[in-house]
Amino acid sequence: MKHFLDINTTDPADLRSIIDSALARKQARAGRPKGMPDDDLALEGRMVALIFEKPSTRTRVSFDVGVRQMGGQTMVLSGKEMQLGHGETIADTARVLSRYVDLIMIRTFEEAVLLELAEFADVPVINGLTDRSHPCQIMADILTFEEHRGPIAGKKVVWSGDGNNVCASFLHAAGQFGFDLTFTGPQVLDPEDVFVGEARRKGAQITIERDPFKAVEGADLVVTDTWLSMHDSQSAQERRHNLLRPYQVNEELMKAAGPEALFMHCLPAHRGEEATSAVMDGPQSVIFDEAENRLHVQKAIMRWCLAG
Ligand code: CP
Ligand code: NVA
Repeated sequence: MKHFLDINTTDPADLRSIIDSALARKQARAGRPKGMPDDDLALEGRMVALIFEKPSTRTRVSFDVGVRQMGGQTMVLSGKEMQLGHGETIADTARVLSRYVDLIMIRTFEEAVLLELAEFADVPVINGLTDRSHPCQIMADILTFEEHRGPIAGKKVVWSGDGNNVCASFLHAAGQFGFDLTFTGPQVLDPEDVFVGEARRKGAQITIERDPFKAVEGADLVVTDTWLSMHDSQSAQERRHNLLRPYQVNEELMKAAGPEALFMHCLPAHRGEEATSAVMDGPQSVIFDEAENRLHVQKAIMRWCLAG
């Protein structure tokens, strides 16, 4: 079964083929109306369940549109409305859904839910974000970087802010795609040691630098994300804001990074907090390309899951 659960657990050659196929197929349908199906209808006759236990705009719409462009059908389900949210086990849910649908995408809280769903499903499962990772997003980010700057291998990515789920997937990708990553943020919000160690073992240079201005020197890409993720307690907001304010990506920080550095944010953003509007709407920002590329890369991921 070809699940797409995380970047660090997917073969690097498969990751590369997903990026390359996403780019080729994006180019092939350039300029077409968004509702027009692809020529080869790779998901014709297929039914895809999209399960959301957390809010979403991009993941929900891009998966739904992607499946339809490929000729398949979708069912968008909210965790709360399913028996899953009322005590039915994940294993039973997985076995039942496998009798109805050909592929499952899930956005959930605990990673254990994703892993158990994948263990008991007879159909491929795709990770649409957990508290610990967001692999579809970083696949879209790699595609976006390479469209603008060429191969990401050997480049310097700087993550400024919270060492959260999106940061974790960047660390996974550093190990698999062979780029260097500098994390700059407060020590209490460092990414998990296990992810840093794994990326280093795979040969990526991972640096922890508390000074954001030193961190961004020579950066090819500066990335940030919200200071309070969906799984974080609202009560932590003030403390997190105080800790993270020095790591805001603003024009001064982008100036230190240099004019060639791109700026990324997975969105949704809190303008004026983790990044200023001047940066988000500025010449180095590729945030809306990232959002668009969710569609193209996820189509390639679904194609990969269902092939063979
Ligand atoms: N970046 C991202 O996953 O956005 P949504 O939460 O809107 O899906
Ligand atoms: N880190 C954010 C990403 C949202 C796409 C969250 O988990 O809420």
